[in-house]
Amino acid sequence: PIYHESDATIEPLEGRTVAVVGYGNQGRAQARNMRDSGVDVVVGNRGDDDRDQAADDGFEVYSIAEATARGDVVLLLIPDEVQPEVYEREVGPNLDAGDTLVFASGYNVTYDRIDLADDVDVVLVAPRMIGAVVRELYEDGRGAPALFAVDQDASGAAHERALAVAHAIGATRSGVVETEFDTETRTDLLSEQGLFPVFASALLARFEVESEAGIPPAVTLLESYLSREMAHIFEKCATQGLVSQMDLHSQTSQYGQLLGLEAFDREPIREFMRDRLEAIDSGEFADEWTEEQASGYERLSELRREYESSEFVETEQATLDAFGLRDL
Ligand code: NAI
Repeated sequence: PIYHESDATIEPLEGRTVAVVGYGNQGRAQARNMRDSGVDVVVGNRGDDDRDQAADDGFEVYSIAEATARGDVVLLLIPDEVQPEVYEREVGPNLDAGDTLVFASGYNVTYDRIDLADDVDVVLVAPRMIGAVVRELYEDGRGAPALFAVDQDASGAAHERALAVAHAIGATRSGVVETEFDTETRTDLLSEQGLFPVFASALLARFEVESEAGIPPAVTLLESYLSREMAHIFEKCATQGLVSQMDLHSQTSQYGQLLGLEAFDREPIREFMRDRLEAIDSGEFADEWTEEQASGYERLSELRREYESSEFVETEQATLDAFGLRDL
């Protein structure tokens, strides 16, 4: 089901304290939205700049352990990689029976990376939007869509409390889809591991082909995405639809786009996506990522270096500067 504004209220949060643990991208946006929705919010953060930011924004700020102890509803908005360790040390021991623990990502529950107490609610409220925009939309009277799920219902009220959080951050103003933790994890990881690499590969392949054909690299890159025409087209796809937005292009363009789509063999892409999804579902990717973190992110740094020093990225960076595109 999809829940809208009239399907939820903040009533299940009345008389309760909501602790936002982690005042970063999502934490700052969600804490401010909930406060503006009339919720009693405290913040828990380690001693860093984000902690100072929370205090500057007018919140009562505590250590993560203290905020969790004060909260009846606890939003765990720290990076997925650090959640297991921080949960074990500071969050788990300070949760009371009947509290509600809210994740914004399904990862650690899907892969059993956290040993959750069984007398607390475990729910997911995952905005499909970066934090800054979660806040901007709310201020605009709108909201970012979100997924929500209930993994454990110890209080008997997990469902309505999760919806109340979604309501308070503004998500029901758009729409909130009920799903499962593992569905959120699978689709989120496949965006990153399947879809993005296909987009990026298409850009790289085009760059290689046009370079061979003697087209100046800056021209290729402006045409591909640096001019932002492509970003605007994607915006229109999101508001009008993939095919309907073609009305904004010439007929020559429409005919060319549709002919290309007809000629393209999608099977290798399907195969690639199936392989990636298999590694996501079997836990192979999660195990590899756990090992990678334990070894100090060696392969991640190596891959970053490799792509950062590629001809494509060097040309891209030079083009951004040459056309003054960074501040557009
Ligand atoms: P973030 O990278 O902005 O970090 C949030 C906070 O974590 C920081 O304020 C920092 O003080 C704290 N932190 C970092 N390392 C720590 C450690 N070792 N111990 C204690 N605190 C530490 O996190 P972000 O991006 O807001 O993600 C939070 C959650 O939201 C994650 O589960 C993420 O998957 C989810 N999410 C993020 C989205 C995004 O747009 N960034 C979108 C939807 C969900």
